[in-house]
Amino acid sequence: MAKLPVNPLAWLEPDRRWLYLALLVLTHHRLTEGRLAVARHVLLVDMEIHDDPRQGAGSWLFPNEEPLLDRLGEQLQKFGAAALGDDGWRQIVETATVLRAHLEANGVGRPLRSVAPTSRPYLGASDLEALLQFASRSLAERSSLASTWHPGDVAWALRDQYDARRPIRLWDRQGAVEAIAWFVGPGQLWLEATPTGELWLPDIIAWAEDSLLRSRGAGQTTTLSVRAFQGDPVRIAGLSRLGFERGGPESVHFELDLAQAGPDVELPPGFMVRDSSGVDPEQRAASHRDAWSALDHIGIANARSTFSATAYESLRTSPIYRPDLDLIALAPDGALAANCICWADERSGVGIFEPMGTHPDFRGRRLARALLAEGLRRMRGLGLRRARISTAHFNTAAISAYSSTFHPLDRSYWWSKVLAPRP
Ligand SMILES: CC(C)(COP(=O)(O)OP(=O)(O)OC[C@H]1O[C@@H](n2cnc3c(N)ncnc32)[C@H](O)[C@@H]1OP(=O)(O)O)[C@@H](O)C(=O)NCCC(=O)NCCS
Repeated sequence: MAKLPVNPLAWLEPDRRWLYLALLVLTHHRLTEGRLAVARHVLLVDMEIHDDPRQGAGSWLFPNEEPLLDRLGEQLQKFGAAALGDDGWRQIVETATVLRAHLEANGVGRPLRSVAPTSRPYLGASDLEALLQFASRSLAERSSLASTWHPGDVAWALRDQYDARRPIRLWDRQGAVEAIAWFVGPGQLWLEATPTGELWLPDIIAWAEDSLLRSRGAGQTTTLSVRAFQGDPVRIAGLSRLGFERGGPESVHFELDLAQAGPDVELPPGFMVRDSSGVDPEQRAASHRDAWSALDHIGIANARSTFSATAYESLRTSPIYRPDLDLIALAPDGALAANCICWADERSGVGIFEPMGTHPDFRGRRLARALLAEGLRRMRGLGLRRARISTAHFNTAAISAYSSTFHPLDRSYWWSKVLAPRP
């Protein structure tokens, strides 16, 4: 039997023990409707977590557990009558999984620093596999929280520079990466963590503040902005406690349950959709550049994509790249009219599209929709359960294109804090 990080039966508070036992049932891999009914009864009737959600605050519940218990109470109340396997129960199990990890990590209340990880910079290509594994694990463990870190995001974001030095820092414990912080722009930080890594938010933010201030030099005020999802109350509460306030919007995120029938899209006469096998890398890269160098319609004049054949070929060497998920739409004369890459993650059952683009001469002919439909069909064929796609908050064309196929999932915002200058 796997050893628990703490012995929950030694916890003094009976309510904390009951909660943990109910979570063990909810997260058990052999869940039955009968067991679910027992766990639901314990939580809603015996413990009254829905009617009296604040009862454990300040005593047997840790601050980062409170919003999750609130959410679990809401979900049990709302979806309790649903059948096992329904989307509602899936959400309940996901919340229970994250909450259970928090309980295990928090235990009886050992100082968090006693489980603190070590941190180190990203070392280049030798760390790629660790990053991909981390993205897959954090996505699986936090999937209802719209964690955007998908292995495909990592492969795409690093593309041809797997070996270049990057402003990325990894926090790991016992060899497993639990959190990553990545400066994606001046003072702008992406931060992803497993439920365990989430406990080190204060350490991670302290590192980010320190490195930003050091990069700015003495006497300069600067602002640190961290991306957070509206649907992630734990992160938002943590950032608020550390003095951050919600700033401007960042991205919009969409999802589709692959059990639902995909859209039926009729291609314009003579057009076809296929994968990129055998396509000249120069042409494939040019097709991406053509789409991403024409962004006037979203207020970006003179955009110029530098995506090269070398970058494309490097992407294809990523361990998670699949040629059958690299799609193109061809015009009747063979011109590459639109393209997208889909990425599959078996552990979480989530597939994503990143990137997607249509040549300006071919826009508005439902080619993006056709690529989405084909990508969804292929993801379904691989046994994936959900598909996701994201775009910048101001990309109205992409938002329209995705809204006709996906459902809204979440929105992300920048949470900002002005840092006092160093003497
Ligand atoms: C976003 C983009 C891929 C859409 O490609 P497209 O082939 O023109 O899209 P489609 O013709 O398949 O349109 C799909 C839907 O979106 C709508 N749509 C597309 N572009 C739109 C626009 N500029 N304004 C409003 N709606 C738009 C279409 O009306 C259509 O809706 P419908 O299915 O209800 O009829 C394309 O504009 C593009 O390449 N942009 C630059 C790169 C980019 O932003 N990529 C996505 C970023 S994540």
